[in-house]
Amino acid sequence: MNQKDNKFSRIKQKKLRLFEAFAGYGGASFALRKTNIPFETIGFSENDKFAVELYKRNHPGVADFGDITKIDPKDIPDFDLFTGGFPCQPFSQVGLGKGEEDTRGTLFYDIIRICGTKKPKHILLENVRGLKTNKHGKTLETIVSKLTKMGYDVVVELLNSKNYGIPQNRDRVWIYAYLGSLPLTFDLQPPQQPLDVFFKDLLDKDPDEELFKDQQQVERLKELYKLDFIVNEPSCADLYNKTIRNDGISITILEPHHNKMRVVHPPKNGKLRVRKYSIAEHFRLMGFKDGEIDFADQGYNQLCKRAANGWDINLASRIFKQIFKQVEAVTVRAKPAYLA
Ligand SMILES: C[S@@+](CC[C@H](N)C(=O)[O-])C[C@H]1O[C@@H](n2cnc3c(N)ncnc32)[C@H](O)[C@@H]1O
Repeated sequence: MNQKDNKFSRIKQKKLRLFEAFAGYGGASFALRKTNIPFETIGFSENDKFAVELYKRNHPGVADFGDITKIDPKDIPDFDLFTGGFPCQPFSQVGLGKGEEDTRGTLFYDIIRICGTKKPKHILLENVRGLKTNKHGKTLETIVSKLTKMGYDVVVELLNSKNYGIPQNRDRVWIYAYLGSLPLTFDLQPPQQPLDVFFKDLLDKDPDEELFKDQQQVERLKELYKLDFIVNEPSCADLYNKTIRNDGISITILEPHHNKMRVVHPPKNGKLRVRKYSIAEHFRLMGFKDGEIDFADQGYNQLCKRAANGWDINLASRIFKQIFKQVEAVTVRAKPAYLA
């Protein structure tokens, strides 16, 4: 029976309206596209000009609200879902010392300011693992307590990309807030999946020679990191931990200036082969298929920075599916057909 035939039906499904804050390349929009949840992105907020350009190229027509600190919530049309991987600054020690929950001066304050006015049904936030550690534990407590006071039920999970089919060791804290009461059985953690694709499978078949270090640079790396760089198959060198990984998993994608992620290939003609990851490799390790994102003709540093700060869109899509199989994405009370 369709909607029209059922004259007593009061429930009409509509598209989930998304507001994407701290948008980067638009991880939430990319992830939702991988689900069968009907959605429309009604606006985004981002203050980095390269990120804005990349976002607009990939999500044309979405209203640009710019810097989140300058947004007047009344200017944003209503939405059902607020998303944001917000840059984390610890909250004011002074405020916390007094037992207050002072979020002023942090970007989280702007999330509270906007969601407090707009009251979206769902909020999905993401941050680095550090948010759960002792040092920043207070920050997470403050976030949860602020959202709870606003009427949200809040669930927090630490999830790692490597447990969901992507060979990257990327731990992130996910915070889901639902306006109202979640079912007691609600679980934010999607079902895990053993890896069937490994680091070497996601590498370029014929990597650009420009990515490779010259022999002098390799010698320097050998000295600095006490590594011999001899492998039987392409592997990830983890320069932070001075080791070559043998588990087929990449270390966390980091911004290029860290200089800590390297691919090591088996030696060729007696020469050691060590190189940077390509742009495509960064994005495959963030859950993208080749061609899924338009790079907007941007350069290596900008694109790799976006990947390092972005959402793993494979994991994010699984989180959305996990949420919306347990709670309705959007329910609009429509006039019963017999009154229409
Ligand atoms: C951790 S990244 C989030 C990336 C995003 N989740 C994605 O999938 O690509 C944080 C983003 O917030 C942006 N940002 C920082 N300050 C901002 C502000 N005041 N207003 C809007 N965006 C801001 C940064 O430029 C960065 O792209």
